Amino acid sequence: MLRTTSLLLLVLITVTSCHYKERTAEYKKAHMVDSMVLRDVHTLSNAAYVDMQHLDLDIAVDMDKKMIAGSATWKINNKCNVNELVLDTYDLTIDNVSVDGKPATFKLDPPIKFLGSALHIPIDAKTRLVKITYKTGADARALQWLSADQTHDKHFPFLYTQSESIYARSWIPCADGPGIRFSYNARVQVPTGLMALMSAENQYEKSDSGIYHFRMTIPIPAYLMALAVGDITFKNIDERTGVFAEPGMIDKARWEFEDVGKMVSYAEQLYGPYRWGRYDVIVLPSGFPIGGMENPRLTFCTPTIIAGDRSLVSLIAHELAHSWSGNLVTNATWDDFWLNEGFTDYFERRIVEQMLGSSYSDMLWELGYQDLVDNVKSLGEKSNDTWLKLDLKGRDPDDGLTDIPYEKGSHFLKLIEINVGRDKFDRFLKKYFDDHAFKTITTEAFLTYLDTALIKDDTVLKRKLDIQAWVYGPGIPANCPRAGQERFAKVDAERDKFLNDVPPLQLATVNWTTHEWLHFLRNMPPALSVNQLHQLDMAFNFSNSGNSEIADLWFIMSVRSNYSFAFPQMETFLSSVGRRKFLEPLYGEMMKTPKGEEMAKRLYNSYRKNYHPLAQESLDRLVLKKV
Ligand code: BES
Ligand code: ZN
Repeated sequence: MLRTTSLLLLVLITVTSCHYKERTAEYKKAHMVDSMVLRDVHTLSNAAYVDMQHLDLDIAVDMDKKMIAGSATWKINNKCNVNELVLDTYDLTIDNVSVDGKPATFKLDPPIKFLGSALHIPIDAKTRLVKITYKTGADARALQWLSADQTHDKHFPFLYTQSESIYARSWIPCADGPGIRFSYNARVQVPTGLMALMSAENQYEKSDSGIYHFRMTIPIPAYLMALAVGDITFKNIDERTGVFAEPGMIDKARWEFEDVGKMVSYAEQLYGPYRWGRYDVIVLPSGFPIGGMENPRLTFCTPTIIAGDRSLVSLIAHELAHSWSGNLVTNATWDDFWLNEGFTDYFERRIVEQMLGSSYSDMLWELGYQDLVDNVKSLGEKSNDTWLKLDLKGRDPDDGLTDIPYEKGSHFLKLIEINVGRDKFDRFLKKYFDDHAFKTITTEAFLTYLDTALIKDDTVLKRKLDIQAWVYGPGIPANCPRAGQERFAKVDAERDKFLNDVPPLQLATVNWTTHEWLHFLRNMPPALSVNQLHQLDMAFNFSNSGNSEIADLWFIMSVRSNYSFAFPQMETFLSSVGRRKFLEPLYGEMMKTPKGEEMAKRLYNSYRKNYHPLAQESLDRLVLKKV
């Protein structure tokens, strides 16, 4: 009897409360509302009430018109029986919509700043398929269309996407939140002669028809949707890893990434099996706005890590590590971004340690620590943006893209490791990835898990960690760990010699890696004299460095000291490199003086067209002072 009543009650709740604004605890349970998705303030979709099970994408890429057009068909389960499906769009033109094969009405809301326009489509309890025919707009923030002369080989145009954090909606109508997962198939038509690749099972040869088919059977969030189109070729590294690049770049790239296969094995030894099948990397043209992007099965990366000496491949270790932290266990909202990036930085350095030893990974830790100190200084010691748990409500989620989630996040994990011991911590992390595989997690859920699975009732440990200060407090907590300085102490000694007028060529710099050079230069006094820079340049040829990290830092120092000898090379660098991490500090340094500002404006106006829309946006603010 009791059973029947509660069943009746359940049915009653299901039938009566369709209106998804009123939610009681029972209602949520009965309806399986995804409460994690409800917390995400950067999606306008109602995917908390509707399962977005699968996407069938059928698109054509028009390189001349710079437009993607086609259809997105969503297979859904209207588990809460709501009367509409709401999706995210950004500058999309919606041509028509059909629901289970029948033409349907739709409504597109006026755009909201950062978020775009909500697309409303009426559905009922039984709706299975919602097909949207659409085109991308000129303001598609995810897309960078390159003309042939903006590529490495300069023969064919190129397109790549960058969907993280909320830009997938500018090329696919979708429920665009990190907590919303779906599998996908895609059919992509590109001009013949070009190759298309996605974050999915790829084809490895060009197709004569220009039609490519993709399959991603594992559910992923929209920010991991990715597409690259261009004159691309492939080389294997080993049986499960390989590299894609333009033909003129492929051999260099293949050489640089020699150890990527080994990296995957090291990562597996640490935290369990790689669950995505193949791991390939594509080296993109230099306009790519970031260093790397962990698109599943196919990391996208900048060519600025092809240094010729394998010294910057820790970036690949980072993107690979996201195959666990991020792609397998995903931050629920962008406020929880440190769960993606802090874990990944930690994991990256563990892979590097395994490959190159702890004196090497200590250098990465120390440079990261220095970044953290600088970043806290510039954000303000008391700023809420220096908490691990962010509050990005009403803001661009890119505002959270600082060193805090990366460095404060990874140092927090390092602190736990030091306190509980490495073996125990590794077992904990491995289990964490297993227990949350293909799921989403909030900061709060992680802290609860940490408590039950690792800390338990250890009050001494609790006091030592001071979790509250790390996660919900500003600045750098007093117990922040610091890496060993074995190799950097030597660098410090050589820098001191230089500052005491020892000629640069007499310094002991043999076998220095990129990281030693970075530490050497970064910690010079604020403004060196032109003569000092000149001496260093004569000895080490920094102005012509083929290493993008060193070159960028050197140009910043050159601007600061008005060392004009380096300016022509700096201009060449700025004309092609689109990586925001390099552009912002360099233009930022120029903007500090009136003369520098003039130079920044001139250079930016000349080369803005080579930068990705997202880089343009932040540099428009910085250089052109656009609001
Ligand atoms: N997932 C990030 C890139 C990202 C984050 C893009 C947020 C847009 C929004 C990627 O894994 C990353 O962190 N890239 C770094 C490299 C890394 C070695 C720190 C980058 O691009 O500099
Ligand atoms: Zn990352």
